Amino acid sequence: MEYHSLGRTGTQVSKLCFGTWRFGKQSGDTVETDREEAHELLDACEEHGINFIDTANVYGNPNGTSEEYIGEWLDDRDREDFVIASKVYFPFDGWGEPGPNDSGLGRKHIRAQIEGTLDRLGTDYLDLYYIHRFDEETPIEETLDTLNTLVQKGKVNYLGASTMAAWQLTKALWKSEVEGLARFDVTQPLFHAAYRDDVAEYLDVCADQELAVCPYSPLAGGFLTGKYEREGEEVIGPEGARGDLDEQFSEYYVSERGWQVLEEIRTVADEVEATPAQVSLRWLMDQEAFSCTPIVGARTTDQLTENAGAVEVNLSNEQRERIDEARYEEGGRRFGH
Ligand SMILES: NC(=O)c1ccc[n+]([C@@H]2O[C@H](COP(=O)([O-])OP(=O)(O)OC[C@H]3O[C@@H](n4cnc5c(N)ncnc54)[C@H](OP(=O)(O)O)[C@@H]3O)[C@@H](O)[C@H]2O)c1
Repeated sequence: MEYHSLGRTGTQVSKLCFGTWRFGKQSGDTVETDREEAHELLDACEEHGINFIDTANVYGNPNGTSEEYIGEWLDDRDREDFVIASKVYFPFDGWGEPGPNDSGLGRKHIRAQIEGTLDRLGTDYLDLYYIHRFDEETPIEETLDTLNTLVQKGKVNYLGASTMAAWQLTKALWKSEVEGLARFDVTQPLFHAAYRDDVAEYLDVCADQELAVCPYSPLAGGFLTGKYEREGEEVIGPEGARGDLDEQFSEYYVSERGWQVLEEIRTVADEVEATPAQVSLRWLMDQEAFSCTPIVGARTTDQLTENAGAVEVNLSNEQRERIDEARYEEGGRRFGH
């Protein structure tokens, strides 16, 4: 595995982060990744040198299950060997129905949630704490001041911001600067080879402000592995895969532009004797404007091994550009998504 600085922070992370959204997630009658599978996947991360693990308070059913699985696994290991990120914002149902203060980025909710997160993970600090979304109801000053205190108290090393508009990110950075508070050093947008124009402005802010970018769903939920085909309007994939379990899969991850990009990724994969998943991840890792650490998911250890192999893949400038350009039709019209 190769390691690099997480943006301008002093923390070194593997060039791939492992995402644990599906740990303990109930989809219909299926628990997507149960405790035993979760621990096998984390073992595989350790074997491949992946030291960066992403979770959130709300991952799993009930919420908190993903953090619990990770905490149990970490118990037998040296905490200092791992960089652990979690998140706060969404309604937390870990103790029953969420109440009026069980969501958002107010002081009360953040303070309660950080304690639950640390408890479930069995650690006294997080390397990285993200706001999962922007909270329009709470003044950003209150959120930033509360997060700043967590940094000062040593409960959190760095702050991160997940999906939001470019102006919201800019406003938060400006407020922390003028108020002398810890700022967001890491961002977590939806960003993959078939979904870039939509976050272009947000990524420009990240580049300008030297923020680390950790894209989520870097394989478009599995679409960019090339295991889905289309039959008319239908997207057909393997039984039991996310595309089979999740009714919103097509709407969320698949687009006309995506099929075009995937075709080019498949061609490049053949040229470099790699898989489409590896080429998709490498394309992200090779971003030049900012440090980019994809947060990849995997349901099986074989998938994880394949994904970790992206570190060994070399793409030429010309191949990267072909993937960049694949989203445009010959006439120059951009496909929507
Ligand atoms: N901040 C946010 O709002 C947000 C939102 C979403 C995710 N995230 C983070 O990002 C992480 C990754 O998201 P994601 O799971 O959507 O990422 P992804 O890497 O785009 O998709 C992962 C899924 O693709 C399939 N897959 C992965 N590798 C494969 C391979 N080599 N061959 C075939 N199939 C493969 C697996 O699903 P199947 O086997 O079921 O096909 C796997 O669960 C999450 O765990 C979470 O930590 C954050």
